[in-house]
Amino acid sequence: MVAIDGPAGVGKSTTARDLAVRLGFVLVDTGALYRAVALAAREAEVGWDEADALGALAGELELSFRPGPSGAARLHLAGIDRDDELRTPQMGEGASKVSQHPPVRDALLGVQRRLGARGGVVLEGRDIGTVVFPDAEVKVFLTATPRARALRRREDLEARGKPVPPLDELEAAMAARDRRDSMRPVAPLRAAEDGFTLDSTNLSFEEVVDALEAIVRRRMQQHAS
Ligand code: DC
Repeated sequence: MVAIDGPAGVGKSTTARDLAVRLGFVLVDTGALYRAVALAAREAEVGWDEADALGALAGELELSFRPGPSGAARLHLAGIDRDDELRTPQMGEGASKVSQHPPVRDALLGVQRRLGARGGVVLEGRDIGTVVFPDAEVKVFLTATPRARALRRREDLEARGKPVPPLDELEAAMAARDRRDSMRPVAPLRAAEDGFTLDSTNLSFEEVVDALEAIVRRRMQQHAS
């Protein structure tokens, strides 16, 4: 099992996806679970600050990942593919807010542990190596400066033909999300003490995946011997 944690916009999802393909592992994007709670809450008219109601809602959700047409796993809520609806800045914001609440984190802990239980998985999120799977064979904390992440986010929005806010605004949004994710009292965003930290500020996408693959293969050899 490989745990990859790190802040918003660092490229975890895309690099973790390529890494999983190279290793022949299944990818579990745990942020999608928090996004699904935010989406379901909005539909049920539960506020993103209503800790107990959110926890109850999260505990009842039927969450699953199923392969889409490209083979990539897509999040299904009650058996319906809702993945596209989760990938908006609003749901990113909502996920960051609902994830502050311990009842929500508790409800999703079991879901994540079930998804990782069979091994052969890359899990990516914020607290995988510290809380969800502290015994993962490989733990990587992927980081980059807020500026670098804002530049990547801008490229991504441009490539998808979406409206692009000014760079300073993107950078400020990154920094605000970092603050909220790192300051929360429960399972804050931080590197596991016994993991690797990879600063991707000056690395290309390909170089990050190469470095991750090298780390994983080295660790696996150590584990096997
Ligand atoms: O990775 P993402 O942007 O899809 O995550 C959205 C939010 O979900 C993130 O701001 C914090 C929360 N999250 C979390 O608290 N723990 C995780 N393991 C994954 C995501």
